[in-house]
Amino acid sequence: MQSRDTFYITTPIYYPSDKLHIGHTYCTVATDTIARYKRMCGYDVMFLTGTDEHGQKIEEKAIEAGVSPKEFVDGIVEGTKGIKDLWQLMNISNDRFIRTTDDYHVKAVQRIFKKMYDNGDIYKGKYAGMYCKPCESFWTENQLKEGNCPDCGRSVQYYEEEAYFFRLSKYADKIRELLLGGEFLEPASRVNEMIKNFIDPGLEDLCVSRTSFTWGVPVDFDEGHVVYVWVDALFNYMTALGYQNEDRDGYEKYWPADVHMVGKEIVRFHSIIWPAMLMSVGEQVPKKVYGHGWLLLGGGKMSKSKGNVVDPYILAERFGVDALRYFLMREFPLGSDGNYSNELLILRINSDLANDLGNLLSRTVAMVIKYFGGTLPEERKFEEIDLEVINPASTLRDKYKELMDSYHTQDALILVLKHISRANKYIDETSPWVLAKSEENNPRLASVLYNLLETLRICLSLLRPFIPDSCEKAFEQIGAKPSELTWDNLGVWGILDAKVSVRKGDTLFPRIDVQKELIELEKFAESMRQEAAPEIITEPYTEEFVEFETFLKSDYRAVKVISCEKVKKSDKLLKFTLDDGTGNPRQILSGIAKFYSPESLVGKTLLAIVNLPPRKMMGTESNGMLISAVHSENGEEKLNLIIVDDKIPAGAKLC
Ligand code: MSP
Repeated sequence: MQSRDTFYITTPIYYPSDKLHIGHTYCTVATDTIARYKRMCGYDVMFLTGTDEHGQKIEEKAIEAGVSPKEFVDGIVEGTKGIKDLWQLMNISNDRFIRTTDDYHVKAVQRIFKKMYDNGDIYKGKYAGMYCKPCESFWTENQLKEGNCPDCGRSVQYYEEEAYFFRLSKYADKIRELLLGGEFLEPASRVNEMIKNFIDPGLEDLCVSRTSFTWGVPVDFDEGHVVYVWVDALFNYMTALGYQNEDRDGYEKYWPADVHMVGKEIVRFHSIIWPAMLMSVGEQVPKKVYGHGWLLLGGGKMSKSKGNVVDPYILAERFGVDALRYFLMREFPLGSDGNYSNELLILRINSDLANDLGNLLSRTVAMVIKYFGGTLPEERKFEEIDLEVINPASTLRDKYKELMDSYHTQDALILVLKHISRANKYIDETSPWVLAKSEENNPRLASVLYNLLETLRICLSLLRPFIPDSCEKAFEQIGAKPSELTWDNLGVWGILDAKVSVRKGDTLFPRIDVQKELIELEKFAESMRQEAAPEIITEPYTEEFVEFETFLKSDYRAVKVISCEKVKKSDKLLKFTLDDGTGNPRQILSGIAKFYSPESLVGKTLLAIVNLPPRKMMGTESNGMLISAVHSENGEEKLNLIIVDDKIPAGAKLC
C-alpha cells in the first residue's frame, strides 16, 4: 500500500434535538475505531462528523424551550455535556466537525439545489401525503406500517402543500444496479431490504422543499420554501470538503467517500436518495455505505420519551471511556442489533479487560520487576512451548486486518482476546515463579517474560483503535517505543529491545463489584424514568356554568406575530405587534417573558381574545390577551402559548 493513500470516513450528522444516548455513541465509536485503524495502517484519513440542525422538529423543540432555533442548537452542540463535549469525552478523533447551520454549508446547499433545478431534476408540484415529523420523512400510503411510520412506528400526519420534487424515479434502474453491484452497500442483508421495500415497489419522486416552517436552508429562487432537511443534511459529506464553497478544502483529495457509517434506519437515505442526487449533480457516488445495527434496550428502541435511554456520561464516568468503547465494539456484531444491559457491560469489562488483558499486563510487568529489577537480561533459552505464543502472534496482524477491512470488528476483538488468553495460559504452563527459584534458570525465565512482553506489544497495538488511551498507558508499562509499534512491526516477532525495561503503572481496568454497580445504575435509570414521566398538575375544573350567549360574546382570533420585544424595566412582560387580519397592527402585552425569548415567536400564528377592554401595563396599552395553556410539572410552573397551523390566516375567528 502507498503510505499516503487516502481514506474518507463519516458518521451521520446528529440531530441536536436532545442529549445523545449510548446508541448514538455506538455509531460514533464504531466509526472512530475504523478511522483509527486506517490511520494505524498508514492511510491519510479524513474523519468527519457533525450535526444536522435544521427542520421542523428542531424548530418546535426551540419554541418549547422558549429560545430561537439557533440558540437551541448552539446549546446542545456547543454547551456543557453537549455533542462536542461527548465526542471529546469518548476520545473521538474526528478531523472535522460540520454544523449544517454553518454559513458555507447553507450557501453550498442553495447552489446545489439550484443546480438540480436547472438541470431539470427538481421541479415544482404539489405534495399531498403522509409525513413523519420525528423522522422528517415523507411516506406513501403503501409504505406505512399499520398506518404508522415504518421507521419509528409513530403516527404520521397528512400534509398538503406546494413543493419542489426531485426526480428520484428517473434514477431507479441505476440505483438498482449500484445496489446489486455487491460493494456499495453492506452488510449484504441491507441490499435485499432496499430492493424489496423500496426499489421493487417503484421509486416515487421525492418532495424536497417545505413551506410550512422556516427553520431550514431557504430556496433562494423561491421565497417561502426551505430545502428538505435530508437534502441539506446529505450534502454535508461534500460541503465539509469544500464542494460548492471556498471555505473548506479537500474535495479533490478525499471524494468519493470510502465509507459512510450509518444506522440501519437511515440506510434508505444513504443508499438510494444520496446516490441519485449525486448522479444528478454529476459527482461520484461513495464507495460504500455500511448500515450498522441498533443498540436496543429491553428488546426495543431507546427513546427519551420512554425514559429508557442510557447516558454515556454516567457509564464513562463510572467505568472509564475505554471500557465503554471496548464493550460497544465487543459485545455485538456491527451489522446486527444488540440488546444493551448494565449487567452485560460489567461482566464484559470484568472478564475481558480486568481479567484477561489486565492480568496479563500486570502479572508480566510485576514479574519483570520482581525477578530482574525491571530490566530483562539479554541471555535467552528457547523451548518448544514458546511457539504456542510466537507462531500465532506472527499471523495475528494479517488475520486482524482481514476482519477489520470487512467491518467484522467484533471478530477482530475476539481474535486478539483469544491470543491474550493463550498467553495467560502460557504463564501457568511455564510457571515463572518456579523458574525464579534458581539463578541457573534466568535465561529461560527471561525468554518467557520477553515472549509475554512481545505478545502484549502486538495485542495492545491491535487493540489501540478500540481503547486508545489505555493502550498508550500500557505501552509505557511494557517499555514499548513508538517506533516499535508501527504497522509493519506488528507483523514481526522480536521487535522489543532484548534488554527491555518495564515500569509499574496503575491498574488499567479495576474489577467492578457487579451487584453494587447494578444497584447504583438502577438508581440512575429510575431517575431517568421519572424525568420522562413528570408529575403533571393541571388547574381544578370550574363547577359553575357559563351562559352560551356570554361565551359567544368572547371574540377569539388567530393573530400572527409581526414583532415581539421585551418591555423595558419589566422582567415579565413581552410586547407583541400582531397582524389580526384588520390591516391595523394590534398591540398586546403578555406576562410570559420567563417562558419565551421574543425572537422565537416572530412569524408564529397564535390565538388571542381581542374584545377585552384596553388595559395599560407599565405605561403601555394592551388590546387583548394571548391564549396559553398552563400546568405545573414536578412543581414547576409551565406555560405554552397556543400556536396554531400557519395555514390559518390572521383574523380567522375561533368558534
Ligand atoms: N440527522 C440524521 C442523519 C443525517 S446524515 C446525513 C439522523 N440523526 S440521529 O441523531 O437521529 O441519528 C444519528 C445516528 O445515530 C444514526 O446512524 C442512528 O442510526 C444512530 N443511532 C441512534 N440511536 C441508535 C441506537 N439505539 N443504536 C445504534 N445507533 C443508533 O438520523
